[in-house]
Amino acid sequence: MVIRAVDRGDSAGRANSLAPAPFIRPTNMNKGMEMSGRLNGKVALVTGGGRGIGEAIVRAFADEGAHVWVSDLDYRAAGAVAESLEVPASAARLDVRREEDWKAAMNAIRNGSGRLDVLVNNAGITGLETGNAPHDPEQCTLEDWRAVHRTNLDGVFLGCKHALQMMRPTGRGAIVNISSHSAMVGVPRAAAYASSKAGVRNHTKTVALWCASQGLEIRCNSIHPGPVLTPMWNPLLGEGAERDERMTEFARATPANRFANPSEIAAAAVLLASDEAAFMTGSELVIDGGLLAGPLNL
Ligand SMILES: NC(=O)c1ccc[n+]([C@@H]2O[C@H](COP(=O)([O-])OP(=O)(O)OC[C@H]3O[C@@H](n4cnc5c(N)ncnc54)[C@H](O)[C@@H]3O)[C@@H](O)[C@H]2O)c1
Repeated sequence: MVIRAVDRGDSAGRANSLAPAPFIRPTNMNKGMEMSGRLNGKVALVTGGGRGIGEAIVRAFADEGAHVWVSDLDYRAAGAVAESLEVPASAARLDVRREEDWKAAMNAIRNGSGRLDVLVNNAGITGLETGNAPHDPEQCTLEDWRAVHRTNLDGVFLGCKHALQMMRPTGRGAIVNISSHSAMVGVPRAAAYASSKAGVRNHTKTVALWCASQGLEIRCNSIHPGPVLTPMWNPLLGEGAERDERMTEFARATPANRFANPSEIAAAAVLLASDEAAFMTGSELVIDGGLLAGPLNL
């Protein structure tokens, strides 16, 4: 999949305001294949699908028979993932912070697929991607605090809002919000990240209740991963020999004594997107290797 648009920013969330509106188009429509799976016939949009957990969710959804709209701030990465699938897929440039991008994406999906069944709000940043600016509660700048919330929380708010408007005509659908185990505990050196993920956890429940109160069969649930080995960790792990040492150190903090594989998070997203989870809404799935279960050595 190729999307032609001027790059307006990078995956760390820095935007170039001079760039034009996104250009989005469906692709791979010629790769027709008979499909049968737990998401057979569903149309799904995944944000931040260009790498990491989002990419794993895209691949798992495609394997289960969904038509996936792969979106990312990094539109080349989204396009490469969509193009690499063996089944029909589409790609879109979607900066989750920009409401006009959401509108354009929903229009493209409406015109290309006719409806939306599943949204996965996966795109997120820690705020620690670029540089060493402190993110503790004492020194974090207001600018950095807001930047993290714009992507992680405003992005989820906008995604839910526009997905609900898309899903209302059928009255059915599933929204999966990728939060974090950090939503439930404090994180001394990532204050904005923890706060934003707590906001996602809470907004998930509000959306679930709103849908129920409206008589809509639109479910909204959150997933709370512990450490998952993705490029998000690169700034913290560094490179070379030190990387292995740091990985061992981080892994030791988790009872399972390892990082999760992105596919282990994708498996939960498949469940929540599927009709198997028809009675699940407003709920939270913690997938953290035991991190939140309590102290290991008492
Ligand atoms: N990796 C972990 O340990 C972990 C743990 C808990 C929760 N999470 C959450 O899972 C989600 C995915 O994390 P990951 O580890 O795959 O991260 P990642 O950094 O590897 O990938 C994130 C993707 O999101 C995209 N993105 C960033 N800002 C965006 C924006 N404004 N609009 C659209 N796309 C944007 C990036 O381009 C990138 O492709 C995030 O919400 C993250 O907070 C990750």
